[in-house]
Parts: sequence; C-alpha cells; structure tokens
Amino acid sequence: MLFKQQALLRQKLFVLGSLAIGSLLYLVARVGSLDRLQPLCPIDGRFGPRSQDEIPLRALQFKRGLLHEFRKGNATKEQIRLHNLVQQLPKAIIIGVRKGGTRALLEMLNLHPAVVKASQEIHFFDNDENYAKGIEWYRKKMPFSYPHQITIEKSPAYFITEEVPERIYKMNSSIKLLIIVREPTTRAISDYTQVLEGKERKNKTYYKFEKLAIDPNTCEVNTKYKAVRTSIYTKHLERWLKYFPIEQFHIVDGDRLITEPLPELQLVEKFLNLPPRISQYNLYFNATRGFYCLRFNIVFNKCLAGSKGRIHPEVDTSVVTKLRKFFHPFNQKFYQITGRTFNWP
Ligand code: A3P
Repeated sequence: MLFKQQALLRQKLFVLGSLAIGSLLYLVARVGSLDRLQPLCPIDGRFGPRSQDEIPLRALQFKRGLLHEFRKGNATKEQIRLHNLVQQLPKAIIIGVRKGGTRALLEMLNLHPAVVKASQEIHFFDNDENYAKGIEWYRKKMPFSYPHQITIEKSPAYFITEEVPERIYKMNSSIKLLIIVREPTTRAISDYTQVLEGKERKNKTYYKFEKLAIDPNTCEVNTKYKAVRTSIYTKHLERWLKYFPIEQFHIVDGDRLITEPLPELQLVEKFLNLPPRISQYNLYFNATRGFYCLRFNIVFNKCLAGSKGRIHPEVDTSVVTKLRKFFHPFNQKFYQITGRTFNWP
C-alpha cells in the first residue's frame, strides 16, 4: 500500500517537474527572442506596417510559430483576414544550379525575417503541364506571407531548361535571379551521386561515373552526358542573358556556402536590398553532419535532410583532370560575364 502511494507520488512529481521544465524552456525561448523583436510586433490586433518606411520584420521565433503554420496551409480564413496575409508571386528565384546548394541557400535565406520560402520546388516554368495551368495556379502555390515580406522559390531545373527565361520574363521582367554554383567537376560528381543513389534504391545497377563522363570511342569528355552539360554554366547563362541584364543575377559561391555560409548570405541580403538580419547566431557547425545547420532560436534548430551532403564515390584522377581541363575555358568565360572569379582549377 505504502509502496503504491510512493509510486503515485513519484509519478505526480515527475509530471509536475516536466511541466515546470517545459514552461521554463518556453519562457527562456520567448525572452531569448524578445531582444530580436523588430519594430512591428502584433500590437492591438494591428499586423500591418505602420508606415511605408518601416520594415515589417518579425522575430525569427514568431516566424517559426504562426507563419510556419500558415506556410503549411494551416491558416483559417479568419486568420488570413486578421493578419492581412497574402500569397505573393516570388520577387526572387533561385534558378539553379542543381547540386550547387540550392536547398541550403533557400533554407538559410528563410532565416531572414523578411523572407518567406516556397518549401517545395514548384516546377512551374520548366514543366509545360504546370505552365499551362496559368500564373494564378503558380501564385496559389506560394506560402502565405505579410505584404512586405518577399517570397522566394527554388527550382534548379529552371537554369537549364530552354523555355524558362522567356516565361519568367513574361511574369516579371525585373525579378531577381539567384544562381548558386560549385566547382563544375565536383558538381557533376554530386549530380551523378544523386542519380546513383536513386538507382540503388530501386535495386538497379548503374554505370560508373568515368564511363558516363568520358566517351569511350573518342576518350574525350562526353558532352551529351547531362551532368557534364549542366556544369557548363556559361552556356546556360548566355541563354538567360537574352532576356535579363547581368545586374539582375547574383552568383552565390556554393563551395563557400558549405564552409563559411554567413558572408555568402550577407552578399545575398545586399543583392535583395534586405537589411542585414542573418547572423552567426543563426548558423552553427554540426560536426556529426559535417555541415552548418540553422538556428531560429534556442529552441528551434534544424539541419538539412540526409540527402544533402552525400559521400561521393571515388573518381579516377585522370578523369577528374580531363574534366577540369574541359571546363576551364567555360569557367573563364563565366568569370568574365558575371564579374565573379572562383579558384576553380
Ligand atoms: P553533396 O550532396 O554533393 O555534398 P542542392 O540542394 O542544390 O541539391 O545541393 C546539394 C548540396 O548542398 C550538397 O551536395 C551539399 O554539399 C551542399 N550544401 C551546402 N550547404 C549545406 C548544408 N548546410 N547542409 C547540407 N548540404 C549543404
């Protein structure tokens, strides 16, 4: 009997203790975010901007709360009206390059209180079937946001798809375009690794990278191989330049985004005319993952999914050298056009 009572008491104490710790953590999180609150807090049921000059930025903690729910589509009509929420066409698009670090860039930019991301790749401009559904369909795919926030989407297939520049131009000729690039050979191997993983998942066999990247008849680089073609950045960019001036593009160094993300993000903030809000606090190195992860506040952290940061297969050094030599002149042209030089071999 006594033993039963003691067990009951221990249970009660455990529940009470958990509640106390939970409340304490919540309070710390809120206080932690208070010093990060921006001029416009939802005071007196007023959520709109006070004046045109004020930038309606909100605490990251707030972003992870209500807006996070709205982004998942969990907003009622009443909430949409009360919070003055809208689904806006993107003001900036990460158009590529596949395996350049497009997801990391989008997620990191989303740390900014004035940025709202479209979580999924929408594939509106590169997919004829989607494009035929019209611009309203595209807009409805966008997350809810406050009117002064900017929406960003990423679909890396845009960069290499013939029809896309003209289609985006027709939607908004002054849109800002972000391209994240990595050293072309590494990017091509990363691209191959992704496809290889897909084949392995389906228990299928696949060719070695060397066999795909080098034409066995000529022993030259196989330019028909998509992973190689995608890494010829200048060829694709030239198509885009028929529609948009170079000032509308910003090139992000994907290799540096891995090792030192903050300066790259600060350059993007500048390009998007956003006040600098992403800080070192928001990015922490996770030794287990081997990558930087995101910190919204002391409670909400997140690393990218395991499909980002795969281990690449070893590639024959002579093939790597051949590819690097092949990409070299294209890279030079790319530096010249973009005004951004990389230390690619
Ligand atoms: P690897 O898998 O080859 O390492 P994308 O999102 O365009 O598919 O790009 C994927 C690449 O993003 C990964 O390529 C990885 O190197 C890179 N990346 C950059 N920052 C990262 C981060 N913080 N966490 C995980 N991957 C990151």
